[in-house]
Amino acid sequence: MSEKQVLITGACGEIGQALVQGLAARGGYRIVTADFMPLPDSIKHLSAEHVQGDLVYKIKTFYDYDFDIIFHLAASLSSKAEVATEEAHRINVEGTMQLLMLAAYRSEKYGKAVKFLFPSSIAAYGMPTLDAKKKAGLVKEEEWDYPHTMYGCNKLYCEKLGMYYGKFYGQKHLDEKPPVMLDFRAIRFPGLISAFTLPSGGTSDYGPEMLHAAAQGKPYACFVRADTKISFMAMPDAIKSLLVLMDVPREKLSNTVYNIAAFALTAEEFRQRALKAFPDAKITFEPNPRRQGIVDSWPEDVDDARARKDWNWTPDYDVDKFFDEYFLPEIRKRYGK
Ligand code: SER
Repeated sequence: MSEKQVLITGACGEIGQALVQGLAARGGYRIVTADFMPLPDSIKHLSAEHVQGDLVYKIKTFYDYDFDIIFHLAASLSSKAEVATEEAHRINVEGTMQLLMLAAYRSEKYGKAVKFLFPSSIAAYGMPTLDAKKKAGLVKEEEWDYPHTMYGCNKLYCEKLGMYYGKFYGQKHLDEKPPVMLDFRAIRFPGLISAFTLPSGGTSDYGPEMLHAAAQGKPYACFVRADTKISFMAMPDAIKSLLVLMDVPREKLSNTVYNIAAFALTAEEFRQRALKAFPDAKITFEPNPRRQGIVDSWPEDVDDARARKDWNWTPDYDVDKFFDEYFLPEIRKRYGK
């Protein structure tokens, strides 16, 4: 069987690096990577070709490629996007739009639906008050879609753009046979934690930063309050979700956007877990008002029933397994503690 042609943008990011490894381990894919940065050595050998530079300007070059699947991961994350809003909009929206246009064009021209996998986020939600956040419980995809951040607005809008290019672009008569359109699928990720990489520019970063600091014996001042709660997930589960959603036959999908969840923890619960594993850890709380405001607007947890029903989603790591079977063993190897 011939290899499937895959494009991964944002390949140097946390999800990107883990996804390149996950796809390569499966085999059967020719992986083209794109990023502003050169590929790290750990994944260089797994990429057939790396296109380095500003994606918005590089997309033209991809019109000659026959991609079956596009993972569009490149983005400016929520904290960074909040201090450079115009630039974030350009990266997050313009980049996505250009790539969707390319996928739509190729799908129609060659009669083959290009699969377009898009990481959306809990940042697409916006809880108006802490009280509403506490009372909301598990939030469903169509609830509280009033993002407070540039990044959240960008993600929510790009979900809509994906639906537009996947369903309505071209505006054929309803009784006309539709052309082949791109196959858009999005996952709203919680905060992700890898034992191998650290995030940068996000606002859920306090979780992974605290754990990596504790494991290295470095003091950490957490930039949100102790009672701050959102949902998190182990990076291997995030990669699993992308690969499972990629494989599901289209007819099984009742929607284009799916929540997924694994475990919801407060910052204090993270601290307790870190202290249990590394008793000398020095973790304090020094909330940053802007970043606190961002996390306060995200739900405590999300309802992933739709993903469970449509594509049998279930995470491999609950909170205990996350620490005991993934994070702590890997991090001890990494930092030698
Ligand atoms: N983890 C991302 C961030 O903090 C949200 O998707 O920006």
